[in-house]
Amino acid sequence: MSASRGGIVTGWGMAVPDKVVTNDDLAATMDTSDAWIRERTGIRERRIGGTTSQWAIEAGLAALESAGRRPDEIDSVILATTTPDQIIPGTSPRVQHGIGIPGGGAFDLNAACSGFVYALAVAHGLLAIGAERLLVIGSETLSQVTDWSDRSVAVLVGDGAGALVLEAVDGPGQLLSWDVGADGSLVHLLKCDHGGTLSMDGKEIFRRAVRVVVESAETVIAKAGLTTDDIDLIVPHQANLRIITAACQRLAIPEEKAVMVIDRYGNTSSASIPLALVDAIDSGRLHQGDHVLLTGFGGGMTWASAVLRWGG
Ligand code: ACO
Repeated sequence: MSASRGGIVTGWGMAVPDKVVTNDDLAATMDTSDAWIRERTGIRERRIGGTTSQWAIEAGLAALESAGRRPDEIDSVILATTTPDQIIPGTSPRVQHGIGIPGGGAFDLNAACSGFVYALAVAHGLLAIGAERLLVIGSETLSQVTDWSDRSVAVLVGDGAGALVLEAVDGPGQLLSWDVGADGSLVHLLKCDHGGTLSMDGKEIFRRAVRVVVESAETVIAKAGLTTDDIDLIVPHQANLRIITAACQRLAIPEEKAVMVIDRYGNTSSASIPLALVDAIDSGRLHQGDHVLLTGFGGGMTWASAVLRWGG
């Protein structure tokens, strides 16, 4: 093991259910409207169906193919999710097996919607102590823990997954800085008990989300030795378009630099940041040397941010 090892992203992939549920579809079964959902959240439609392991496997296989790597070259699978297929065992061993990864580690990580950025930080720790190649996935089926008669939650959620292959390099790699945080005095703001459905205090989460995202983003930008002007792309958790707009305004980062996929996918919790990142890569928005800010918040409350310098 060398004295300093970092990680670079060598592959990426995503997967979402085929079934599109539009705002009008929801308005047909509950007291809501396309206009309200679009204006208050930015969501136009979401994908619904399947299982967390199913989308994780599909996204993971796509990421491996894009990296040009075989399953047996992966050391460990880290799966960020709040909606595991079952409580025991974790979902990641099922994903490891489904992809055909013959050994190594597999573990689930639950930090609610901040989970993928937490997983990226943990992955870089593993690379620093000797892992060679990791598959880091965010996958969710929030539809499974949603009360479809509760309009305060049902209009927000969606299903899907995004995945990255991370490979070790000598030297610092792409991750310039990271920040993870939690405030367990706020568990009541967003929760789902065993066998229950998701409930949340939307207004209070909204208020606190903007604050923690801004503070965490400022922390990682400063830790990276950068200013907000140096950020080329921001990949925020996709919970509400208005939260993203407010955070960009307070950070003085032009909103055009923010990746938005919430209109198509809704809030996919741990999957939202990798889905948005893969969308940005596939649509050519990321260039060699770009500074990318990933930032998210979620139940717990938790929050997490990272700055990457894109490219090899
Ligand atoms: N359709 C139509 N009307 C609605 C709906 C709906 N789906 N939901 C609420 N309303 C009504 C309310 O009853 C209220 O009516 P009233 O004024 O007559 O009382 C009015 O619309 C305004 O409701 P608010 O709750 O004040 O609406 P707000 O602008 O705060 O938007 C929302 C609600 C979208 C939930 C917002 O607060 C939000 O996005 N919060 C953050 C949610 C979040 O980020 N959650 C964390 C992630 S989720 C996860 O981790 C899985």
